[in-house]
Amino acid sequence: MKSATTVIPGLYEMALQHLLDHGCSAHPYQEYEKLIEAVNFYAPRKVLEIGAGIGFTAAAMLLSNRDIYVDTFEKDSVHAKLARKLLNELGFWQRSAVINDSAEIALPLLQTKYDFIFFDGFQIHYEFLPQYKRLLNREGILFLANNHLKSKTSDRFFAELADATTWKIIDQFADTTVAQRL
Ligand SMILES: C[S@@+](CC[C@H](N)C(=O)[O-])C[C@H]1O[C@@H](n2cnc3c(N)ncnc32)[C@H](O)[C@@H]1O
Repeated sequence: MKSATTVIPGLYEMALQHLLDHGCSAHPYQEYEKLIEAVNFYAPRKVLEIGAGIGFTAAAMLLSNRDIYVDTFEKDSVHAKLARKLLNELGFWQRSAVINDSAEIALPLLQTKYDFIFFDGFQIHYEFLPQYKRLLNREGILFLANNHLKSKTSDRFFAELADATTWKIIDQFADTTVAQRL
């Protein structure tokens, strides 16, 4: 069986190729090595991903850490179908679920808790922050990509994330912020 470090770069290339073929804006997350590092360091059991794309980052996390379970939300039905196919082909049907829904609708309905949330949708919206707080276990990790994609409420989002009573910002790099739920 091939090792995760051999397989993951090939999956990244496949996700890039999809972007070109489909003409969509599902850029695979470039800092995926940092994401994998975080998933191994914080050792979450349950991971929530927003923005599956064709399943690259969910696959990368699952390949790198055998102890995690990933729920991944994807609003585009073509992407959701491809993500489900990829995760099934990699043998992760029992350790993952691809949900074809937008996070705006799905997050408020979720009743389960997570140890790690990876946001890789498009713009950052304030309305997600109370949901992250509700859904993350104490000391859980919020790993937010695409910080450069501003919305009308993204400044409010980051101002509240800087609130030291609920969140501790742990790291910031390459349009990514990593925070811990206190
Ligand atoms: C930048 S791509 C991320 C792909 C994937 N994480 C990767 O690295 O390959 C963003 C994906 O998030 C999806 N998306 C954007 N906003 C979303 C939302 N609010 N809810 C669910 N999916 C969303 C898009 O359809 C797109 O497939």
